[in-house]
Amino acid sequence: MAILGIETSCDETACGIIDLDGNILSNIVASQIETHAPYGGIIPELASRAHIINIHKVVDEAIKMAKLSLSDISAVAVTNGPGLAGSLLVGLNFAKGLASSLNIPLIGVNHLEGHISACFIEENRFNFSKKELFPCISLLISGGHTELILMNDYDSYKLLGQTRDDAVGEAFDKVSRILGLGYPGGPVIEKWAQSAKRKKYNLPKAWLQKDEEFSFSGLKTASKNLAYEKIYNNNLSQEEIKDEISELAYSFQVSVSDVLVTKSTRVAKKYDCTNILVSGGVAANGFIKESFQNKFNGSIFPERKYCTDNGLMIACRGLIDYKKNKFIEPKEINVMPQLNVT
Ligand code: KG4
Ligand code: ZN
Repeated sequence: MAILGIETSCDETACGIIDLDGNILSNIVASQIETHAPYGGIIPELASRAHIINIHKVVDEAIKMAKLSLSDISAVAVTNGPGLAGSLLVGLNFAKGLASSLNIPLIGVNHLEGHISACFIEENRFNFSKKELFPCISLLISGGHTELILMNDYDSYKLLGQTRDDAVGEAFDKVSRILGLGYPGGPVIEKWAQSAKRKKYNLPKAWLQKDEEFSFSGLKTASKNLAYEKIYNNNLSQEEIKDEISELAYSFQVSVSDVLVTKSTRVAKKYDCTNILVSGGVAANGFIKESFQNKFNGSIFPERKYCTDNGLMIACRGLIDYKKNKFIEPKEINVMPQLNVT
């Protein structure tokens, strides 16, 4: 018996399956990068349409890969927010139909709780009994969120602070656009930064008064000004342009990383936590991961493929609710906007 997780909150149509002991059986993601790349960002209407086309194939493939049949599914877990409403509705309606037709429970999963759950995956198993990590600090860094959360258990969250403006992933995406590197910005900036000679421009870091809060809009504007000063307003050769892009990408990454690492470790100390769980798409960044691990022993990152949106993290979170019989009636499920924090 198994939990099938469906994720369609943004631009990935995804399905993952785990058995009731937490063993990973399959994880299929259909990316929409090619659909949105020409526009330099996600077009919500196109995202919903692509989900409609992809959802059947992705779920079918996940079931095949898990070597299961529909009758082996014990419950359907589905992201019910936060995210793009039109995208969420595709996954929700599909999950609703699937659960109703199989007469099995439906579980509504908060996307952010899904990301956090990915931190408990180790060696192909979702280790949901890893209680020794609590209390811990959870740093959620994605395209839409940058939050520091105090977690006392799987269901106990206290939001300590968040970004006042752009989310980190959003800043990566926008700076990438400024540099003409395309979408999604995170992976492409990381790649360009790898070839930097590290002469390192000093881009700003917003420390703010509260360690729990972040701001990235100033860094974004400073990156733009620097790009104009060093690249666009100069008559450079192709090689020189490439060098400048790499240096700028590297300096941007350093500023982001310094702020995230310094603030999160200070907050962990303040709350006497020995672990920081870092999750969300930006946690896929190797430089940020290394910076955390160099500075703080208890830094926990999911494997790269479980950092960006996926259905497996939704199945993992769903398993916790399944064990507690926390189900939603198909007729009651709705799009939920926020993480249920105190
Ligand atoms: O969690 P996610 O897949 O979707 C949301 O819930 O938003 O995160 C997507 C974000 C995008 O902004 C993307 O540029 C960023 O994660 N991202 C990265 C990397 N891979 C994805 N940012 C930095 N470095 C990466 N390697
Ligand atoms: Zn996400």
